[in-house]
Amino acid sequence: MHEFQDKVAVVTGAGSGMGRAFAERFAREGMKVVLADIEQAALDEAVAELRARHHDVLAVQTDVMRFGDLEALAHQTLDAYGAVHLVCNNAGVEGYLDGALWEASAKDWEWTVGVNFWGVVNGVRAFLPLMLAQNQEGHVVNTASATGLVRASNMYAITKHAVRALSEALYGQLKQRGARIGVSVLCPGVVNTRLFAGERNRPPELRDDQHPDGPRPSNAVRRGWFERARQSMAPPEVADILVQAIREERFYVYTDHEWDDRMQAFCHDLVNGANPVLQPAR
Ligand SMILES: NC(=O)c1ccc[n+]([C@@H]2O[C@H](COP(=O)([O-])OP(=O)(O)OC[C@H]3O[C@@H](n4cnc5c(N)ncnc54)[C@H](O)[C@@H]3O)[C@@H](O)[C@H]2O)c1
Repeated sequence: MHEFQDKVAVVTGAGSGMGRAFAERFAREGMKVVLADIEQAALDEAVAELRARHHDVLAVQTDVMRFGDLEALAHQTLDAYGAVHLVCNNAGVEGYLDGALWEASAKDWEWTVGVNFWGVVNGVRAFLPLMLAQNQEGHVVNTASATGLVRASNMYAITKHAVRALSEALYGQLKQRGARIGVSVLCPGVVNTRLFAGERNRPPELRDDQHPDGPRPSNAVRRGWFERARQSMAPPEVADILVQAIREERFYVYTDHEWDDRMQAFCHDLVNGANPVLQPAR
């Protein structure tokens, strides 16, 4: 997609972090932007700020785990702006990071996979048929992670591998059909957002029964990532990288080269059928 001016963008997870930065950047490109998020207060704040700068934006509270919410989001987008050209399936949670996979509850799986993977599936199902029918130039961005490109080590990474794989299949199928819709899979390294406070958006019915007040107290993994994120790249930098990548029709979108050695090690192990060499978490 080369032209942004007057086109319509939809961003999920637009209330915070990268999604919010994408919405703002797209608005500055002259797009009409629909911001979707499960957090109404964050949406209200983001939309008020963008409208104060005279951008044409709309907020739609959306739980990406629910296909019906994505359908409603698509309909509200068409009602307001008549078309949709750019869809960013970006909402995500760090989910169950803490412990062994076999100790995770069904609710941990349902929440983590529900937002990170099904959220993208729901976005694809709700928007792609509309985008194909309108037969205009368009683009889909799915936010995976650098953890989706290296040996998986936890539930979050499993979901991000799935988002990368889904995006690769989507890219291939659209190309085969000669569609005018590009696809990018965004694989950020560590970015300074509220990702590691994702428990705030865990639905009550999927709360962890053993730890109803939030993350497990011994959660060193989450604390480590939280500290690292605070010292990392700012979301607007990722928005700049993403806009450039969409213009250049780039499929794989990276934010840094910090993960190169692990990507190479992963590919080497795959090609050689070697047992993974465990490296210390970074
Ligand atoms: N921050 C990082 O270091 C990093 C690295 C790689 C990938 N990512 C991915 O980037 C994406 C954006 O996350 P972020 O880092 O900006 O974190 P963030 O927490 O700042 O933003 C995520 C947004 O998603 C929303 N959200 C959560 N559950 C939702 C649901 N069920 N329905 C709709 N919205 C929901 C949250 O309310 C929040 O506004 C996620 O997919 C995340 O996995 C983040």
